Amino acid sequence: MKAEQKILADASTLIDAAAEHFVSVARASIAKRGVFFVALAGGSTPKGLYQKLAMSPFVEQVDWSRVHLFFGDERCVAPTHDDSNFKMARLAMIDHIPVPAENVHRVPTESGDAAVVAGHYAETIKQIMKEQPFDLVLLGLGPDGHIASLFPETPALEVTDKLVTSLFVEKFQSWRVTLTYPVINAARQVIVFIAGEAKAEIVRDITTEAVTGLPVQRLAPQGDYFWFMDKAAAGQ
Ligand code: 6PG
Repeated sequence: MKAEQKILADASTLIDAAAEHFVSVARASIAKRGVFFVALAGGSTPKGLYQKLAMSPFVEQVDWSRVHLFFGDERCVAPTHDDSNFKMARLAMIDHIPVPAENVHRVPTESGDAAVVAGHYAETIKQIMKEQPFDLVLLGLGPDGHIASLFPETPALEVTDKLVTSLFVEKFQSWRVTLTYPVINAARQVIVFIAGEAKAEIVRDITTEAVTGLPVQRLAPQGDYFWFMDKAAAGQ
């Protein structure tokens, strides 16, 4: 288990600790390079963190004009659809923070089929970030060990020549686009954010290596790597 584990007493303490950490990484990146490139996680777990970041004292502590918000993965639905990770993050945070609209880089799901969408998003990342890596990639953890939309036994796991790839997820009967391993691994920092008892089994299987080869276990971050969890997820 390569990640440094941060285990917090409960969900709200977890959110506070993660918000403090997010702010400190953002401030350090902006102080050092004048900019903070972050890929946001989707799903339900990070919503509370995003809401917290849009509140005092956190919202005032970040120069959002220097922040570029990207998404680690997206469901191929309209940005107004309830399944949209962009919509979740917009309602929880983006609409409530002074980030310039041109610094919010949602996945252009309306721009064609999933492969075309993935290509467009890769171009956006190259155009905005040039050769820079992400300063922070925030990930959730699926009960099957998936991260972003790198699902078990999918071709997306093997893609190393693209920044963003697309895949059809059988169990959800839906298309997704996702950052690929090389992009995530190149990030200056990767955080897997995990909360709740529902994740205790997968966390136990991973930390005890009862199961191996899962997408999250194939992560090999070159930079800092943390797991932020509450006690429920950590099985304590
Ligand atoms: C997504 C996510 C995905 C998510 C996990 C955990 O688009 O669904 O990016 O990787 O992080 O599925 O989801 P929950 O936080 O809802 O448990």
